[in-house]
Amino acid sequence: MGVVVASAPAKIILFGEHFVVYGEPAIVTAIDKRVYAKAEFREDKRLHIRSENLNLAGYFEDDVFKVEEGEEKKARFKLEPIKVAVNEVLKIKGEKLGLNIEVNSTVPVAAGLGSSAATASSVTLAVAELLKLKISKETIFRIAYEAEKIVHGTPSGVDPAISTFGGMLLFQVDTGFKPLNVEADLPLIVCDTGIERSTSVQVAKVRSVKERHPQIFESMMKTARGIVLRAVDALKNNDLKMLGELMNLNHALLYGLGVSDESLEWLINIARKAGALGAKLTGAGGGGCMIALTENEKLETVLEAVQKAGGKAFIAKKTDVGVKIEKL
Ligand code: MEV
Repeated sequence: MGVVVASAPAKIILFGEHFVVYGEPAIVTAIDKRVYAKAEFREDKRLHIRSENLNLAGYFEDDVFKVEEGEEKKARFKLEPIKVAVNEVLKIKGEKLGLNIEVNSTVPVAAGLGSSAATASSVTLAVAELLKLKISKETIFRIAYEAEKIVHGTPSGVDPAISTFGGMLLFQVDTGFKPLNVEADLPLIVCDTGIERSTSVQVAKVRSVKERHPQIFESMMKTARGIVLRAVDALKNNDLKMLGELMNLNHALLYGLGVSDESLEWLINIARKAGALGAKLTGAGGGGCMIALTENEKLETVLEAVQKAGGKAFIAKKTDVGVKIEKL
């Protein structure tokens, strides 16, 4: 009957989160941490889903959900997007089949690293391959985006795009995305505050700022765009000093929107004091992860400093490998 395993990368947003929801560009890169999804057939018509790292399991049968591991409401909320992705693939196949889905991941969850989008795209490819459907990356992106809407409300689509296509992208809602061919590996540290947060809550916070201060928000958007455009040039020239400065400026905007928090500020300041060229929150904020850019020689010093300060940190490497089949 066969088993298929697919994987998709996590991501970090280097510049432009939140403003990207309102049409501004963002720069995002896929990193070398992946989510793995395994798909196999079942005898019955149930869709059984187990998430190893979330310690959640349950099954859907005709839209009725039964929890098997974890708290019911949480399990349904976290597993529902996977059901949406699977159902979209089954719709293409035009058959109703029972499946077992198992998700495994080395990506911290609810931390701004795109674990839900990487889950959706890896599940989509694993199921499509199991059903012997040849689907394009555009289709995987579209399905993962549908699943993301369940989790995040009004996502820009940046997360499903990067987890599907990999590499480094300049992403914009209206114009789509274009690969940024950056040769050099950026010396980047990702540090998790350990505070789990919800993207939709942070996005709603920003929407409320936008509604209460439309003109101020407008000029912040313009500034954010300017930062992203300068960052594209700095990336092309491998100008790390400029990139660091731009990261600090970008963080100042995000701080102004109210999506930073004490845990992020603490680690960002530690990283800067330890010699980082720049540091900012990444993703939605409100906890989750920060990133720090350093010169190569300072990488270990900054890493140790944020770890000592309580952050769970690692050195991130860019990957060009988007969603892919691991095992047939
Ligand atoms: C989440 O990774 C990035 C946000 O800009 C939301 C989105 O773009 O959908 C905060």
